[in-house]
Amino acid sequence: MKRKIIIDCDPGIDDSLAIMLALSSNDIEVLGITIVCGNSPVEMGFENAKKVLKQMNRLDIPVYIGASQPLKKEYISALDTHGSDGLGESFLENVEGYQLSLTAVEFLSKTLNQERCSVIALGPLTNLAHLIEVDEQAFNNIEMLVSMGGSYKAHGNCSPVAEYNYWEDPEAASLVYQQMSKLDRLIHMAGLDVTRKVVLTPNLLSYMERLDSDKGEFIRKITKYYFDFHWEWEHIIGCVINDPLAMAYFMQPDLCRGFKSYVQIETESLSRGQSIVDAYGYHRKKPNAYVLNEVDVEGIFELFFECLLHKKKDQLSLLHKLIVKEEQ
Ligand code: RIB
Ligand code: CA
Repeated sequence: MKRKIIIDCDPGIDDSLAIMLALSSNDIEVLGITIVCGNSPVEMGFENAKKVLKQMNRLDIPVYIGASQPLKKEYISALDTHGSDGLGESFLENVEGYQLSLTAVEFLSKTLNQERCSVIALGPLTNLAHLIEVDEQAFNNIEMLVSMGGSYKAHGNCSPVAEYNYWEDPEAASLVYQQMSKLDRLIHMAGLDVTRKVVLTPNLLSYMERLDSDKGEFIRKITKYYFDFHWEWEHIIGCVINDPLAMAYFMQPDLCRGFKSYVQIETESLSRGQSIVDAYGYHRKKPNAYVLNEVDVEGIFELFFECLLHKKKDQLSLLHKLIVKEEQ
């Protein structure tokens, strides 16, 4: 049985890589893609999702437009990181079609009331917060909720303490984490502590192109801008692929390790968007999150190359020589 998922995202360069990864897996059925404002304005994210689906020859997958604004805060994009088109200034042609029958929240509500389905949230949690508001039972039906967001001990990427998805809409993130508390369930938090350890380097990208020129060229097109950004701002040669890590974790959970903890998301002032991880239980609250803090980097890239490029392990002899592991 394939595991059914809805990808809630803000494409976005790394969102696009995560969508490609999911669509390449034989073990996953993507029921639909819901778009939320984040990296890109929601209409731009909608167009970008269709460009990725066209590249993957999967224009059968439905895409739905969600929130164009955070719950309370002013919308602030991350186009400075993802380029003016939200896809690394690849300026790919728009894809026609896609009559929009439902909104993202209507699709989430309908699907989660009918199917056993997980949600992989790769952007701000605004759509899921709206789902809680309009159809709490549908939200409660989510089989496994994985969120790329937050950070435990890693420094923030849009403030000293906050990761972008939770910073852009902190009220939404807070509502989702509170709901998990109410349900006595765990949201799987794939934050910067693990994603920062997975860097797609120029060597790995060249290797990808050698193994599959079509996909490799597409990935080069959409990541070039991201490489430049990472060098300029974080002095990293390559790019941190946050969202594909969250997707890989869902596909193969043993690639990461973590711990159960109560997590609360701050919403104001300097700590806006900070994920307060009460790892030692000071607040004596039941865990509402499974916080990832260790990752098998080589395992992630093995999965990424094998699945996305449809290669067997013995066809990837160079891979391990090319993976840059963070100094321990
Ligand atoms: O902070 C990184 C996250 O914010 C990623 O999901 C990226 O795509 C942006 O949405
Ligand atoms: Ca994202």
